Amino acid sequence: MDLATDYMGLALRNPLVASASPLSQTVDGVRRLADAGVGAVVLYSLFEEQLLKEAELNARLVDAGSESFAESLSYFPAATDEDPGPRRYLSLLERAVAAVDIPVIASLNGVTPGGWASYAAAMQTAGAAAIELNIYYLPGDTHVSGRDVEQRHLDILARVKDVVTIPVAVKLSPYFSSTGEMAVRLDEAGADGLVLFNRFLQPDINTETLAVVPAVGLSNPVDARLPRTWIALLHGRVHAALAATTGVEDPADVAKYLLAGADVVMTTSALLRHGPEHATVLLDGLSEWLTRKGFAAVGDVRGMLSVPPGTDESAHERVGYVSALQEANSNVLGPW
Ligand SMILES: Cc1cc2nc3c(=O)[nH]c(=O)nc-3n(C[C@H](O)[C@H](O)[C@H](O)COP(=O)(O)O)c2cc1C
Repeated sequence: MDLATDYMGLALRNPLVASASPLSQTVDGVRRLADAGVGAVVLYSLFEEQLLKEAELNARLVDAGSESFAESLSYFPAATDEDPGPRRYLSLLERAVAAVDIPVIASLNGVTPGGWASYAAAMQTAGAAAIELNIYYLPGDTHVSGRDVEQRHLDILARVKDVVTIPVAVKLSPYFSSTGEMAVRLDEAGADGLVLFNRFLQPDINTETLAVVPAVGLSNPVDARLPRTWIALLHGRVHAALAATTGVEDPADVAKYLLAGADVVMTTSALLRHGPEHATVLLDGLSEWLTRKGFAAVGDVRGMLSVPPGTDESAHERVGYVSALQEANSNVLGPW
């Protein structure tokens, strides 16, 4: 089965991508993902906070004045597996790129359009095939306007695009007043890919300890419905490649995203739950389904069930909503 896929100009052997997670925190982890067959790996994210900390340290060393800046850098400890910072990240990236023959995508996680974003250039030098920008911004300040939040996304993208020549994808949240327009603006601003969607930390409350409990839960297939809806709407309406992330548990979930119009399908929770080797199960299942349905290549199904161009999108969503409600009601009450 021909699973070859283009993602932002990168030639992938198939459309399954291991999304950013602890599984890519070591070279061995990246190798296991590659051996299991994924088309590309996104490394875990390097955070703005880590970069700012390093920049502060550099500034302090320069201020101390006893050494030139370049010499001061020699004070930094060599990257080790215990060092979670930027140096370790670049070292891991370089070693991972050398260890596998699939594209390795670096990930930057931040919220402000500050200088940290220029770190993307170092990632490119270290061999990243592309950069994924995880703009993890939940505007807790009730005075921040929606337009400001949107502009922040565009500014961060512009900073990164200015300093790299490799493709840049934006991993965004679904929480915009008009998610589609935001996607189109990012597309027009030069995003090579849109990764739909990142998941915010939604803390729980423990009623016994009376404490707020931070938690990053694993996803379930039902969580794929929101990104899938947006992918179906955006397919054919943006130039940027579309990456689906959230809720892939079995091969059918991969197939559904492709039918909706995803260029690539990412997975983390299932690989954490079942191990990286689960990627082989997903890929074998995808090939088996394509063969059974009589398709010769993965490209034959991509976007088959997207919202066709020329459709009145709002009316389309409304029709779906109304008929879903009618069906749900008739299941409970009998036909309307
Ligand atoms: C434990 C854990 C760590 C994650 N770390 C990152 C990260 O460093 N950067 C990032 O962009 N996404 C991160 N994610 C989000 C995943 O890349 C993915 O987008 C999300 O889990 C939805 O996909 P899934 O349903 O297949 O898990 C993490 C998710 C989990 C569960």
